[in-house]
Amino acid sequence: MNGQVSDVTSAVSDDVTSRDDVSDELMSVIRSLTSSRRYVPQWYVYDTRGSEMCEELIQKSETYNVWQHEYSILQAHADEIAGKVSPPAVLVDLGSGGSSKTRLVIEAMRKRRENFTFVPVDMAKEYIESCGRQLETDYPELTVEPFGGLYMDGLRHVSAREEPKLLLFLGSSFNNISVHEQGRFLREIRAQLRAPDRFVIGLDMNTDREAVCQAYGKQWTPIWRDNLIDRFNKDFGGTMDAEKFEYQVDFVENPADGDTPSYVVGYLRSAARQRVHFETLGLDIDFEDGEKIYFYEGPNTSCKFNPRQIRCLAERSGFTVDALWTNDEENYGVRLFGTDRFYSYRSLRFLKR
Ligand SMILES: C[S@@+](CC[C@H](N)C(=O)[O-])C[C@H]1O[C@@H](n2cnc3c(N)ncnc32)[C@H](O)[C@@H]1O
Repeated sequence: MNGQVSDVTSAVSDDVTSRDDVSDELMSVIRSLTSSRRYVPQWYVYDTRGSEMCEELIQKSETYNVWQHEYSILQAHADEIAGKVSPPAVLVDLGSGGSSKTRLVIEAMRKRRENFTFVPVDMAKEYIESCGRQLETDYPELTVEPFGGLYMDGLRHVSAREEPKLLLFLGSSFNNISVHEQGRFLREIRAQLRAPDRFVIGLDMNTDREAVCQAYGKQWTPIWRDNLIDRFNKDFGGTMDAEKFEYQVDFVENPADGDTPSYVVGYLRSAARQRVHFETLGLDIDFEDGEKIYFYEGPNTSCKFNPRQIRCLAERSGFTVDALWTNDEENYGVRLFGTDRFYSYRSLRFLKR
């Protein structure tokens, strides 16, 4: 599929009313599923089981190479990154998951004999708490303070602390933010940071159609279809049958000299006309034959930026671009954003996307 970004705004269903026995987060999931453009919020894919399966796949896959590329870049540059903030610092890992690559930064900061606190932030609360306990066992002098919640809530939670912050956003997680929201998202992050803080972000830049389609292909079915449907059924007493949905991906190529990156679109496609019942909510959802449930809020499951696109986005959001480290193939990058220019929150709101 080729083309520009389509301006999809999902009309969230008003038919589903809140219930006292279902959390706000879970209600937001069911509203997404019943909106006119059905989708799953990104974090919902990652319960503990989904997170464990994901960690295993990204480390072992021969075609999805994000983990390996980012690991090798961090191996080469973790010391330099650790040296960018003055001690005592707070290391914050947005969407930390298993923190398997973050260990390289933790080790680099320990080598400097610095005191620091590690704050992993992730919606997969139980998973990061268990990973946090393992980190404290492996690094006995490390204090880990997991925050189970949304990215921005976690960042707001730590932003009042006096210590300089080294904020990580790894695993190409920024690429999964909706293309319509990326500017606002970066401006919100910028507004929470001060001059001594630094922001390190990992970005996939691979636009090779064949490689991308292989990377996001069938190997993800057990996570993005089977485990996800299992979670729906457990959380809402559902009757969804994984075999009646197909996991599929498209790749949307946008011009390299434009502002919109190319991106992967992932979805589950209903293999037949069917009705699913969610007992907990007393709710039936009808799916047409071929109807899609998209992954994530925006049109993109994962963007593939080029260096110019990300530089423009960062600068318009009030960051300075201080470093870019890439792998040998130059299709994966880790960027260091600085906060040296002063912006008031008010002026940041008016910087253009
Ligand atoms: C692509 S994984 C990256 C994991 C890890 N940082 C890595 O590099 O391997 C994205 C992680 O972000 C978490 N996540 C997704 N959306 C989130 C949100 N809105 N707020 C908090 N966590 C979120 C998921 O639970 C998942 O662990």
